[in-house]
Amino acid sequence: MEQDLLREATEEAEAAEDSRALYEVKMKFLGRAGKVTALLKSMKEIAAEARPAFGKKVNALREALEEKFAALEEKLKKKELEKKLAGEEVDVTMPGRRHVAGALHPVTRVKDQLIDLFAGMGFEVFEGPEIESEYYNFTALNTPADHPARDMQDTFYLTGEFLLRTQTSAGQIRVMEQKKPPIKILSPGRVFRSDDDATHSPMFHQMEGLVVDKGITLCDLQGMLDEFAKKMFSETSKTRLRPSYFPFTEPSVEVDVSCAACGGKGCSLCKGTGWIEVLGAGMVNRRVLENCGVDPDVYSGFAFGMGIERIAMLKYGLGNIKLLTENDTRFLEQFKD
Ligand code: PHE
Repeated sequence: MEQDLLREATEEAEAAEDSRALYEVKMKFLGRAGKVTALLKSMKEIAAEARPAFGKKVNALREALEEKFAALEEKLKKKELEKKLAGEEVDVTMPGRRHVAGALHPVTRVKDQLIDLFAGMGFEVFEGPEIESEYYNFTALNTPADHPARDMQDTFYLTGEFLLRTQTSAGQIRVMEQKKPPIKILSPGRVFRSDDDATHSPMFHQMEGLVVDKGITLCDLQGMLDEFAKKMFSETSKTRLRPSYFPFTEPSVEVDVSCAACGGKGCSLCKGTGWIEVLGAGMVNRRVLENCGVDPDVYSGFAFGMGIERIAMLKYGLGNIKLLTENDTRFLEQFKD
């Protein structure tokens, strides 16, 4: 009887292919409901004098099986570990995985450079809303409804009163309403105009600057712009102010920077003039100060506004503004550090 069980268990155990199957065989014989365990339990049905001999035999069987299972288990575990390690082998000759790093868009780069540059002169950043009311975009900037200057900027109206801002100058009003002078802010953001050709896009970015304090003059503006031109274009860059017109500045100027490509001698980029127009600026109009509750007899200020795409095009020698919105990675990849 025990010999049969021993043979049966040994055969099944040896046939087990992995440690899990082996465990099941072990339970079948040595588990709580196992065959060998049942044999031990059946002792009480055996005549008292036959019990010790029977018990001895069954115990010997159990011990033999336990040994057998332990030996087989060790063998299977070893095999399984070897298999696992073989599967995890590292091939050090395999080529590595490349991590492709992204890069900042040229408009973002120029914007960040401008913020850096002006922050160094003490400017703080203020961002206004892209949807503006007529009041902030035009009226408070001394451009009432019937003013011909409204035609200078082809506007996308959303309703009779609300529009997509055509200029970050709208932020000047918001800042002066919230803050008392001295004011020194920089306002970057997207602006929108119904305009579309090689150098104009219906959406572009501007960087606005506003300084209001006692005794601010046009000289302060030009001194600061010289610094800007040197840092943004080249150490030898110079600026030139030309009379111009904006309703919200008086006097108003167009600011040219000496052409960095030819050093001012005249080339195809500057169309032979030696100068390139980069921004609009001027002394804040008294009317605008009044509209914001700032006393123009005590305070004066200057403002400037530039197109970030335009600066990027000049800096990187781009012929078409569309390159900046097409997101062609062959173009964008050239702007990695
Ligand atoms: N807002 C003007 C424009 O969009 C630029 C400007 C800003 C001019 C500030 C003067 C002062 O053309």
